[in-house]
Amino acid sequence: MSEETPLDTAEIARIAKRLDRPIVLVGLMGVGKSTVGRKLAELLGCGFVDADEEIEKAAQRSISEIFKEFGESYFRDGERRVITRLIGETGGVIATGGGAFVDDETRAVILDNAIAVWIHSDIDILVERTSRRDTRPLLQNGDPKEILTNLYEAREPYYSQAQVKVTSANTPHAETAWSILKAIDKWL
Ligand code: S3P
Repeated sequence: MSEETPLDTAEIARIAKRLDRPIVLVGLMGVGKSTVGRKLAELLGCGFVDADEEIEKAAQRSISEIFKEFGESYFRDGERRVITRLIGETGGVIATGGGAFVDDETRAVILDNAIAVWIHSDIDILVERTSRRDTRPLLQNGDPKEILTNLYEAREPYYSQAQVKVTSANTPHAETAWSILKAIDKWL
């Protein structure tokens, strides 16, 4: 059952006009930053870019390979550079990897130059969604539920610094996108 009232085209256009910065989606692995981000960009008629994909392109390696060959701190350095570049280049929607907003410098760049939107979901939903792919190095060693719970506890103080927060359940992406637009409209 849908709980989110739809936004019509005129409302979306009104909110789109108010946007003066990129929208950066943050939150744990599996919350749907990339899929919701694509939908959000489609509704707004703007560009979408996935920071993890851009990091992979720049390194010519998958995220798993970067972690394996060079380690996490090398990945975080690349992530910081790529996100800073994307924020400078992109007027639209940017999805980031779950750890990006935890890095002090990356978080400051996002908060100063974009609207950070924290998408939050119950851990059980994240466990189910992340189990569909084995591309996430941080979930390879151990029980995914325990890892995601620990990451949530460690990262919540950072995620909660985002200007906007929305909760996403197992609802269609368009509904989460509408929630984001309404929350941004309220915050602006
Ligand atoms: C990570 C999340 C991943 C990816 C990398 C590290 C994290 O992105 O950036 O595996 O630290 O939470 P998603 O959140 O898109 O899965």
